[in-house]
Amino acid sequence: MGTDQALLPKLARGQLFSDALMREVKARFLQVDHDHHGRERLYFDNAGGSFRLKAAAERFAQVDAIPDNAERIHATAVELQDIQAKGCADLRTILNAQGGSVYASLSASGAMFDMVRAVAENVPGTNMVTTVLEHPSAFDAMSLYAQRLGRELRVARSNPATGGVDVDEILRLVDENTSVLNVIYASNISGAKLDMEAIVRGAREIKPDLYILADAVQHAPHGLIDLQKTPVDGINLAPYKFFGCRGSGLSWLSERASVLPHHKLAGKKPDYWDLGSAAPWQFAVLTEIVDYVCWLGSQFVGDAITTDRRALFTAGITHIELHERALLALLLDGNENVAGMRKLEGVSVFLDHDDLTRRDLILGIGFDRIDCTQAVVEYARRGVTVYERVATSIYSRRMLESFGLAGTVRVSPLHCHSVADVEKFLRITQDIARGD
Ligand SMILES: Cc1ncc(COP(=O)(O)O)c(C=O)c1O
Repeated sequence: MGTDQALLPKLARGQLFSDALMREVKARFLQVDHDHHGRERLYFDNAGGSFRLKAAAERFAQVDAIPDNAERIHATAVELQDIQAKGCADLRTILNAQGGSVYASLSASGAMFDMVRAVAENVPGTNMVTTVLEHPSAFDAMSLYAQRLGRELRVARSNPATGGVDVDEILRLVDENTSVLNVIYASNISGAKLDMEAIVRGAREIKPDLYILADAVQHAPHGLIDLQKTPVDGINLAPYKFFGCRGSGLSWLSERASVLPHHKLAGKKPDYWDLGSAAPWQFAVLTEIVDYVCWLGSQFVGDAITTDRRALFTAGITHIELHERALLALLLDGNENVAGMRKLEGVSVFLDHDDLTRRDLILGIGFDRIDCTQAVVEYARRGVTVYERVATSIYSRRMLESFGLAGTVRVSPLHCHSVADVEKFLRITQDIARGD
């Protein structure tokens, strides 16, 4: 089987893992079919916190149990330094980044505020550009610094037909006086991927030295990021949404962004971003994530045995994307066993863009009979965890209003799910729609 990224547009409806691989994948994660009390459960809220790799949880405990300070010269300290160096290299593997700085923080939100602050305060301009679909961590940071610095905040509108933001809609707001552009890689509400390559290219045609920040928290676990094609200046991800652990945000900054004045101890090098003691487990967990995706990739490279970690990672994440796309197609259109969402009476599928190659595995649905909050309760009664995104939530309002929606039930499975899991979910959805 090929591993080439060229597979992606060709397999417009995705490609499932084999049954044997599906079993192996499930076995590598915790609590895929049962919750922590051992109760059977379908967990379809991975966009709010993903299944954890067993290896990541074990490594977290192992590394965090070591009391030693990494800033010493003895053998254990050197071991911890190696763990950190490997984790930094692995973040660059995920992003295909070269050089720059790696910044480990407590959350992706914290890192985004720090990156926006450094760029906004130090790069001149009269306006700052972002999109209506940003998570509050990016949107509020952009609003805060625009206000403080007396800049105009320009906000690109969403497109209800695609669930995303059109490239031209962003580019029309960028000019030679733009200080910073901040764009989400994929929406955590609709799952729509933004065309980052065209956005970065187009924006730099308007202002060649434009600073660009990107929020990859939603997209990173579901598809390939390649900073050689989308050279941004700052990008963050959240390991707890990427098969890892909570309490950690990891970001990368370009060389020029890393040396912009920022909060740091005066004695540290200009491109150093960590503030206070590092937690080596953050890096160890990231390495487990990359090891896993590379292992998955190795199942597909066949004769082309490779030790190139980025090539294996690319193969792994490509097949995650393909499996998830096949699950999305199944959710929407069903199969010979069960009807899909698009055909279920009393169920609406929101922001249902035809081109599945432009979507991460997230679905927003609604019921005629009950509201979103009631629907979540009905799912829970049947052993299914999903999430209501309602306009009263600070995490949803701006995005939902931009689409003219009052609320949706967000359905976000993961590549650890099988066809049988999705069929079960569809049957339960049908029961809820009928009031059975
Ligand atoms: C798209 C997106 N960006 C940023 C964040 C913030 O991540 P964290 O919880 O690590 O601060 C989230 C979390 O929900 C998110 O979905």
